[in-house]
Amino acid sequence: MKVFVTGGAGYIGSVCTEELLDAGHEVTVFDNLTEGHRSAVDPRAKFVEGCLRDAGLVKQSLRDAQADAIMHFAASALVGESMTDPKKYFHNNLVNALKLADAAVECGVKKFVFSSTCATYGPPDRVPMTEDLPQRPINPYGEAKLMFEKVLIWYAQIYKLEFIAFRYFNAAGASNKFGEHHRIETHLIPNVLFVAQGRKPQCEIFGTDYPTPDGTCIRDYIHVKDLAQAHMLGLVPGKTGFYNLGNGDGYSVREVISMCEKVTGQKIPVVEKPRRPGDPPRLVAAADKAIRDLGWQPKYPKLEDIVATAWAWHQKHPAGYAD
Ligand code: UFG
Repeated sequence: MKVFVTGGAGYIGSVCTEELLDAGHEVTVFDNLTEGHRSAVDPRAKFVEGCLRDAGLVKQSLRDAQADAIMHFAASALVGESMTDPKKYFHNNLVNALKLADAAVECGVKKFVFSSTCATYGPPDRVPMTEDLPQRPINPYGEAKLMFEKVLIWYAQIYKLEFIAFRYFNAAGASNKFGEHHRIETHLIPNVLFVAQGRKPQCEIFGTDYPTPDGTCIRDYIHVKDLAQAHMLGLVPGKTGFYNLGNGDGYSVREVISMCEKVTGQKIPVVEKPRRPGDPPRLVAAADKAIRDLGWQPKYPKLEDIVATAWAWHQKHPAGYAD
């Protein structure tokens, strides 16, 4: 297929682009490089540097690519930042996504694959979380993603734009070539690994008074290559709807830090800080639906393998894509 990948210079988009190309698809990456990196674009892909705000350029690029499908990764993705700068989130993650969906309809694209998030649920009534749980986001990041999920439902019904939306839990790990490099890094695993690399003196734990066994937040970490695999399966015509992507295992912040110590062989000094606004205490996926309907089978479900691949990438790229 011919696949148009927005955000293909970013963390998850770069790994998905690599997997698509390995499987023989043709890929056009569309990215404005504010979060992404030119050197994270697989050299086998066509590259368009542009912003989704520019509806004319988006339409022209879709036509040039003769796109059968869109994978829409381009987004702002920091829960904490969304609590202080909500307009960035509603514009980038809702308004720009809407422009892309309009262009998809106008250009006759058959399939829209959307990067949604478990942050659309907010604090769940129960874990592991199935797709039918009520969605009550507690931050603008989750809210904007949820609003666009609703757009997709109506566009599918009325314009016949087939969609599949993946609600990611916590993406982590790396492929051999592509890994996680955010200009401002707020995610847990890379920040802990920076300490092991000597780039930071200590890591911070945000909140030690949550209602969890060790008082720190619990998340479900999912290997970025397993996310990519699900996206490939989602391209199949007729596959539609909302799917959680996670491993069903929850790890606390302290457990993640211990695993990083094990993998790197280094002691990681920590400092305990207050809670970070917008963080739900516990998010763990039930991904049975993706396994059943799409035939998805995560290959790297163990936290140790996830951290090990991230560590290998950071060691090969001590300054990320700035090397
Ligand atoms: N945390 C720390 N110290 C750090 C960084 C994070 O204690 O230095 C904590 C956070 O407070 C949170 C947990 O570690 O409790 C995980 O935080 P991340 O920032 O790594 O990930 P989030 O769960 O906040 O968010 C990520 C992505 C979102 C996605 C979400 C789904 O950034 O895009 O996972 O849970 F929606």
